[in-house]
Amino acid sequence: MKVFITRQVPSVIKQAFIDQGYQTAEWTERRNLTPEELIRYAKESDGLFSVGSNRIDRSFLQECRHLKVIALCSVGYDRVDVPAATELGIPIGNTPGVLSKTTADTAFLLMQNVARKALHMHKEILRGNWDFFDPMANLGVELTGKTLGIYGLGRIGFELAKSCRLAFDMPVIYHNRGRNEQAEKELGARRVSFDELLRQSDILSVHANLSDETREVFNRDTFSKMKSSAIFINTARGQLHRENDLREAIETGTIWGAGLDVTNPEPSASDNPLLNMPTVAVLPHIGSATVETRMKMMQLTVANIVAGLRGEKLPHCVNPEVYLR
Ligand code: DGY
Repeated sequence: MKVFITRQVPSVIKQAFIDQGYQTAEWTERRNLTPEELIRYAKESDGLFSVGSNRIDRSFLQECRHLKVIALCSVGYDRVDVPAATELGIPIGNTPGVLSKTTADTAFLLMQNVARKALHMHKEILRGNWDFFDPMANLGVELTGKTLGIYGLGRIGFELAKSCRLAFDMPVIYHNRGRNEQAEKELGARRVSFDELLRQSDILSVHANLSDETREVFNRDTFSKMKSSAIFINTARGQLHRENDLREAIETGTIWGAGLDVTNPEPSASDNPLLNMPTVAVLPHIGSATVETRMKMMQLTVANIVAGLRGEKLPHCVNPEVYLR
């Protein structure tokens, strides 16, 4: 049986398939596959190892219903039509857990960058603007004791809340559909309404999945309810915020600033005005991008594919209902 891998991956990852008796094919061009190319290569394969932003929609799934498994090398699965995959009997794997701390660390890094305008200061030195010492210039804001608000407190939000408690003694509030008892017990986190989250957070960090319910939930109306000193952090999906509204909110002083690892649209254009704002830090979707974490994600993806090809349950399955059919 054969596995199609949608990006170049380290040889040790390909070897893991070969050791189990499977063949691999790999997409080596530095561009995304077109939908037609994805279908063509998937048709020649039994398992799909999906890295990057491939759209696994109903039409792809209908064309490739023969696939025994699709494993995403990501925790997010918003680009997959999961109900269609379940209907067609295709298990979808993902990589939860292994990237939680790393992604939370990216949110923590952005929070500190924005509070102290660090990326902006770096750019100022490059522009030759480090000269006269003015005690009231280049001022940031303190984080100690500030309230951390989390929209979607799951594994990643928990890690961020833990770091913020330890580093800056920050009280934690959160908005979720259900309670996060572990966060309440271990971190003293308090569940609040969405409106309270907006009004009370000094730092508001987004960790929710992208869905019809959460798409562009951070917009002009919601930014207008936040504190004028608030910092907005998004390391989840760019489409959770409306980017023009965010820019406007910072320009008009409705909120203080923003740290983004994800943008809307993505990738961001180099002339995105947010990139030149002193209280904004933008990263190119590198939440989980450490050597250690990316290897763990790939190893989990291998484990999901191998289980799928053997007809066994995936260790991390997004649609376990597929086994009840
Ligand atoms: C994830 O794992 O979902 C990351 O955002 C990479 O897409």
